[in-house]
Amino acid sequence: MSKKRFAFVGTGGRAISFIEPLVTTYRDSNVLVAICDLSPARMAYYNGMLAGEWAYHAVPAYPAAQFDDMIRNEKPDTVFVCSIDSTHHDYIVRALRAGCDVITEKPLTIDADKCRAILDAQRASGRRVRVAFNYRWAPFRTKVKELIATGVIGKVRSVNLEYLLDTNHGADYFRRWHSHAADSGTLLVHKSTHHFDLVNWWLDAIPQQVFAYGDLVFYGRKNAEARGDGALTKYPRYTSHPEAKSDPFALDLDESEPFRKIYRAGEADSGYIRDQNVFRDGIDIPDQMSLNVRYRTGEVLTYSLVCFSPREGMRVTFNGDRGRIEYHEFIGTHMNRAVRPKDFKLDEKPGAEAEGEWIKVFPHFQPSYLVPMPPATGAHGGADEILNRSFYAPDAPATDPWGRFAGHEQGAASILVGIAGVESMKRNQPVNLDDLVPLKPTARKLSELV
Ligand SMILES: NC(=O)c1ccc[n+]([C@@H]2O[C@H](COP(=O)([O-])OP(=O)(O)OC[C@H]3O[C@@H](n4cnc5c(N)ncnc54)[C@H](O)[C@@H]3O)[C@@H](O)[C@H]2O)c1
Repeated sequence: MSKKRFAFVGTGGRAISFIEPLVTTYRDSNVLVAICDLSPARMAYYNGMLAGEWAYHAVPAYPAAQFDDMIRNEKPDTVFVCSIDSTHHDYIVRALRAGCDVITEKPLTIDADKCRAILDAQRASGRRVRVAFNYRWAPFRTKVKELIATGVIGKVRSVNLEYLLDTNHGADYFRRWHSHAADSGTLLVHKSTHHFDLVNWWLDAIPQQVFAYGDLVFYGRKNAEARGDGALTKYPRYTSHPEAKSDPFALDLDESEPFRKIYRAGEADSGYIRDQNVFRDGIDIPDQMSLNVRYRTGEVLTYSLVCFSPREGMRVTFNGDRGRIEYHEFIGTHMNRAVRPKDFKLDEKPGAEAEGEWIKVFPHFQPSYLVPMPPATGAHGGADEILNRSFYAPDAPATDPWGRFAGHEQGAASILVGIAGVESMKRNQPVNLDDLVPLKPTARKLSELV
């Protein structure tokens, strides 16, 4: 059997989670043919790891401007997209046109025009696009899917999902490119795509209409000054600013070797400053968001995201016509520290207190009960490991009993909730998703979408 050929675009913090398993656990059935990024320094870090610790070998490193040359010369079967969100569509479309399959990190893309371009290119090429929705693959979230799918609480009529990002992980988005809507589509796309995908998948439902509010109330210079925290605004970034040492929002890029090699070393060649002050001017995304979604099959979702909470986690409740499920997930804060999967651990900062996760079922007219669950271990609650097996293992099943594979249409169904939310905030009106990007008008269930 010939090995599957993978090329990666985007060699920042996240790509490690996919490149390391490819070249170690799954090297017998796959080959890494090349990497591509804006920053030669970041690619040099990866090539150092490949030739050193991972006992593989260095691979050709292509500057971003030579992405098409990479595909022509290295002939990957699959292009794996791990670059910043605003660039996903461009690489997906070019890879599809060149005849490659694509795996992309979430979000599929950040706005309606880019989403249409991806769907058009996929249709024209017939190639496969998969979205790496790792949240679906965490065992405890799959358990929720199983309970709902087997009718334990009858038909679900409504869902409440509250997601809390803390002043460690949440703040990190405001130091980086995510804090600009043009790069991330706002956190309602970049981050909430995970949550909207979970609800779409849990309910097997397609979102139809969204109404949203969102404001920047905590991060940014003006908010800090108004609260009396003006002292925290006095330096443009944290590293090499001694006056930031006692700032609880500070991140020192010199503190760890991966940070130094991936981000510090790549500042000059890419202009990417990873530790900007979260209380600076120019942040143009909301840090608290609240929205309502109606699905084609009548269910409603009440959703909120707050990015400056003292604790991190989510609380989801499902109201069915035979009972209720409460799902509670407080497994500690996690920040992208550019670590290898085996070194992944949840941060132990205040506010990261892990209470674990539990699922409780409240049937109508019967006692409630807790659903037994194995403890969450590994990156993203164990999800990354299972997801990687599905990408790379030669014996990975082509179908999944819980429908955890997500293609371009399911990827679109998730981002469009956030994109419609951003549009709703601008118009102060409900927004129909089909007016932005029509998705298979006859489909009723998410599982009818690719
Ligand atoms: N599913 C998850 O749990 C998860 C976690 C983290 C990140 N992500 C996703 O992974 C992707 C990467 O995030 P990250 O945390 O590694 O970010 P990062 O900032 O660490 O890295 C981003 C990389 O993209 C590169 N880049 C920027 N513009 C580019 C261009 N035009 N062409 C090629 N490369 C370009 C940068 O140089 C950098 O190396 C994002 O899409 C993010 O949404 C997903």
